[in-house]
Amino acid sequence: MPASLFIALHLLLLLPSIEMKRQGKGRGPKAIRQKLTLDRVRGAGRQSRSGPFRLVALPECSESTESGDFFVDCQDRNLISIPTSQTWSKKPRHFLLARNQIKVVRDGAFVGYESLTSLDLQQNHISLVEEEAFQGLTHLTTLLLQHNRLGTLSEEALIPMPNLRYLRLYDNPWNCSCQMESLIHTLQVPSNRNLGNHARCAKPVKLKGTKLKQVDPELLCKESDPTTDLETDPINPVEPSPLRSKPDAISSCHTYLFPQVQMDCSKQGLTEVPAGIPEDVVYIDLSHNSIRHLKARDFQSARSLRTLNLSNNNMERMDTASLSGLLHLRELDLSDNSLRFVQYGVLEDLYFLSQLKLSGNPWVCNYSIHYMVYWLRLHPGVKHSGLVCHSPPEHTGERVEKYVSSYNRECPKDRQHSKTDQDQTDPELWNTAMEVQGELEEDLEPSNLRAPQQYEIIRLS
Ligand SMILES: *[C@@H]1O[C@H](CO)[C@@H](O)[C@H](O)[C@H]1NC(C)=O
Ligand SMILES: *[C@@H]1O[C@H](CO)[C@@H](O)[C@H](O)[C@H]1NC(C)=O
Ligand SMILES: *[C@@H]1O[C@H](CO)[C@@H](O)[C@H](O)[C@H]1NC(C)=O
Repeated sequence: MPASLFIALHLLLLLPSIEMKRQGKGRGPKAIRQKLTLDRVRGAGRQSRSGPFRLVALPECSESTESGDFFVDCQDRNLISIPTSQTWSKKPRHFLLARNQIKVVRDGAFVGYESLTSLDLQQNHISLVEEEAFQGLTHLTTLLLQHNRLGTLSEEALIPMPNLRYLRLYDNPWNCSCQMESLIHTLQVPSNRNLGNHARCAKPVKLKGTKLKQVDPELLCKESDPTTDLETDPINPVEPSPLRSKPDAISSCHTYLFPQVQMDCSKQGLTEVPAGIPEDVVYIDLSHNSIRHLKARDFQSARSLRTLNLSNNNMERMDTASLSGLLHLRELDLSDNSLRFVQYGVLEDLYFLSQLKLSGNPWVCNYSIHYMVYWLRLHPGVKHSGLVCHSPPEHTGERVEKYVSSYNRECPKDRQHSKTDQDQTDPELWNTAMEVQGELEEDLEPSNLRAPQQYEIIRLS
């Protein structure tokens, strides 16, 4: 690809993000207020436990417009109740209330919020939603209630929202008793296929771990003798499955839908990439886990991914096809792992990568690291950092590119393909060299451009 075309493509890719920032900024006092709010939010993590005399002041939430939609972002504000709609300069379409301290959603809490299409109440302490709490939300399509403390929810509460298409209820301690019968019935109506997926009963013991979608509602209100439940030892309830299967992304991570679809899977003790990353996820944070090995097709379903954060995982190995399918990835953070080299071919699908973070890895400067350097030379648009030799001792602290250049300079005559440094820059030649080594494990075309294979690679070793 000629350099100018390459740059033009990158500019095109950058445009939407610039646009977003500009729109989000606003003008005048509001911009200042937003700036203050942002600063406050940054400090919020550290100050969240502010003692018993917390003042309930006006919520300093931020307002912004993205793609023509007006957002109110009140995440992480220590709110205990829902601010009234008059607080905002306009009628919001999206209202973000995640990670506050709300315990009860009262009747009429959203009066004046008729314009909302999405409402995010995840990660609060909600244990009660009153029956008329969502009155007036006739346009709402998305309601996020995951990661709360709900034991029951009346089906009546959903009636004011005829357009509801996405309802997230997982990670709540659902009490699958008679009161839940009508809600469970509703969730199981086939056309409601995106309502209440992944939510599971926590009680009674005999239904613990069963999905609400799979509970037989007919059994819930049967006059069963109340002792059945007590027969099972409540101190040691039977876990749904003692065998650990691959963790799934929906239950291991926090999902945020706005302003872009993000998953926060950091610090979840994951030992592998969770399965079932939804196709529309744009940003995924898998940092601070224990994923030692990236396997082929780990990110196969994550086609929209732009940012992938794998930092701080003790990662030792990335299989050749582990990043395949990530055609739109722009940012990859591999810092603070235990990588010594990357498998030949691993980076081939990453056409539009622009940032690659590599620091904090014990990179070994031997022939295996050459692939990384050649790939970086062929992709000059990629800004990378932290590619420094850790061993062997004679190269410790040296930049890997410098090591590769000096290697090629010192290379004995019979290993050089020409008198010039051509072998560094000509991908044909280094491909050949690597193939002879038997390291080419799969064809390396991006999976969607892959033509049917017409030849076979025969290993010589
Ligand atoms: C679950 O619901 C049943 C029926 O309403 C009730 O008797 C029971 O106390 C509830 N259990 C808990 C732990 O809330
Ligand atoms: C990845 O996560 C680490 C640790 O949480 C953070 O410091 C870093 O900035 C993140 N990288 C990206 C690209 O977001
Ligand atoms: C380079 O070092 C790594 C890590 O010690 C080792 O696994 C690999 O086989 C070495 N490669 C070559 C070509 O010697």
